[in-house]
Amino acid sequence: MNHHHVPPEKMTLSQRADELEEEMMHELERIAVKSVLYTLGEGKVEMESGAAMMAANPGKFFLMGADPRLPQMPEKPTLIDYFRCRFASHAHLLQSATHALKAGHNEKVVLACLLHDIGVVSFIRCDHGYWGAQMIEPYVDEEVSWAIRMHQALRFFPDESVGYKYPEMYIKYFGADYRPEPFIVAEYERARNHKWYMTSRMITVNDIYAFDPSAKVEIEEFTDIIGRNFKQPKEGLGWDNTPASHMWRTLNWPTRFL
Ligand SMILES: [Fe+2]
Ligand SMILES: [Fe+2]
Repeated sequence: MNHHHVPPEKMTLSQRADELEEEMMHELERIAVKSVLYTLGEGKVEMESGAAMMAANPGKFFLMGADPRLPQMPEKPTLIDYFRCRFASHAHLLQSATHALKAGHNEKVVLACLLHDIGVVSFIRCDHGYWGAQMIEPYVDEEVSWAIRMHQALRFFPDESVGYKYPEMYIKYFGADYRPEPFIVAEYERARNHKWYMTSRMITVNDIYAFDPSAKVEIEEFTDIIGRNFKQPKEGLGWDNTPASHMWRTLNWPTRFL
């Protein structure tokens, strides 16, 4: 950033945010690094070299563990710890799960609703169903992760038999002429003919944004359902050596140098 000479009142909001962020970084004992994905999200294909960051932070080492700016995670984190300390938003997930519970669905469907958008709230929007499914695959019944993976495509297709319409919100968000890309159509067709189709479909039916916004639901209300249906590793999520452990570790330590 080359705007140090710009007086604060002349800075744009984003310049001021950058400045503040840089100040915070200098206050850290170690250098926290941003992965390329963060800058891609700002429309730039670039990364700062290790040497340049070292030069800008004389006498400091790179962060190789927890980022002190983030809520502190316990040594052996559980799914609920990630909800509390790393998921940026819970209300939609808790409301979907509550809706499914009240509709009398089984615990697999309730869990699927509770976790269906963890890809979005913790990680990344694009392909969120796939990311979310992959994160939980080792810990849940195959039907639950399959349903979460497929809800991504099913969201775009109505099913009159259960009263599911193409979401009004998508017309507002993507325009009336948006059509799902061929890979989404193909995935929908595969899902449509699968034995677990209805499980995934139920995620979309309970995937609501306007369900009583005043209703306050806490993640603790789902402790028992999680306990019965999510195999919490005794080492802590991230330290348990499954094909998804690295995803949880990265979420725990997102600014580790390598
Ligand atoms: Fe979703
Ligand atoms: Fe959703």
